[in-house]
Amino acid sequence: MGASAKIEGMTGQARDSNALAEAAEEAARVGVGGYDRHVFLCIGPDCCTPEEGAAAWSRLKSGVAELNKRDGSSHIARTKVGCLRICRLGPTAVVYPEGTWYGGLDPAGLERVLRDDLGGGQRVKDLVIGENPLL
Ligand code: FES
Repeated sequence: MGASAKIEGMTGQARDSNALAEAAEEAARVGVGGYDRHVFLCIGPDCCTPEEGAAAWSRLKSGVAELNKRDGSSHIARTKVGCLRICRLGPTAVVYPEGTWYGGLDPAGLERVLRDDLGGGQRVKDLVIGENPLL
């Protein structure tokens, strides 16, 4: 099967109303529609080692779960990604809707982002590598 056939097949699946309904159910199940913020974390391999990325992802998941439990709702979403196109001094992350991009998220840096930004609403200025608010 060629690339165009695969794309056509995916498009056909996306148009299937049952498949869309199932996807919508899954989106609702994971909390889409109730998020206030969303953090994307690059787990490497070019901005950090896979081991550093895996450790950061594990800590981000548990930290976000703690914050969501603290506030009684799952208002912060977290997603791991394969590249945010910075590819140096990672792990790299971006927090929306503020659009705060962070670099150099070693364990101590990630703790500060969890505590001060995700938990406290304050940018960790010395780790900011870019800003792109979507508000
Ligand atoms: S590999 Fe992390 S930003 Fe590219």
